[in-house]
Amino acid sequence: MDAETTTTCRIYSEDGLSPLPLADLFDKAAPIEVDLGCGKGRFLLARAGNHPETNFLGIDRMLRRIRKVDRKVVGAGLTNVRLFRMEAYYAVSYLLPPDSIAAYYILFPDPWPKAKHHAHRLFNRRFIDALDRTLKPGAAIHVATDHLPYFEEIYEVMRAEHRRFEEIPAWEPIDEERTDFELLFLGRKEIGRASFIKRAN
Ligand SMILES: C[S@@+](CC[C@H](N)C(=O)[O-])C[C@H]1O[C@@H](n2cnc3c(N)ncnc32)[C@H](O)[C@@H]1O
Repeated sequence: MDAETTTTCRIYSEDGLSPLPLADLFDKAAPIEVDLGCGKGRFLLARAGNHPETNFLGIDRMLRRIRKVDRKVVGAGLTNVRLFRMEAYYAVSYLLPPDSIAAYYILFPDPWPKAKHHAHRLFNRRFIDALDRTLKPGAAIHVATDHLPYFEEIYEVMRAEHRRFEEIPAWEPIDEERTDFELLFLGRKEIGRASFIKRAN
């Protein structure tokens, strides 16, 4: 048997269509926070280690990255992390159950800087609808990016959604929880950060 399948925190959607039975996939019941585009996992590992009272789901579309983070999570003995290799918009729109998520961290999403590629950006009205569907009332969205034009776009889209989302002071990570990408830019580039919570109806 492949070593990767003997001990792993990777999860699967059996048919790629049915919602994930998310709560059943963790060892114990706890609020679930999602790191969308978890990359190499520096933030996810540190945050999960510092918050054993919370369950964490890391999502990334790159299988190679998910496999690497899986090995790190298992090596660190973390039992409150699950990893899902999936496209983020599809996962949030169709596979995460409604009213299930306590927080999303969307940290250094791909900026697609060329105008002809802007359609590939994750943040748009449909994506926000999908976040809204899956978030519990009072749950948070935390965003950070070094690409300030993209940050302005995200900020404007979210501010326009003020009936659904209230802006709160931007979440700032402790040093240990800075992402791999953030370490590349720290002290060299301005970083845009914003946080919002879903209003109760
Ligand atoms: C710029 S990296 C940032 C990674 C990490 N959040 C960090 O700050 O170090 C963007 C990550 O998001 C993933 N990603 C980009 N678009 C995605 C999508 N549509 N669905 C899932 N993952 C995506 C990439 O594979 C990559 O790992």
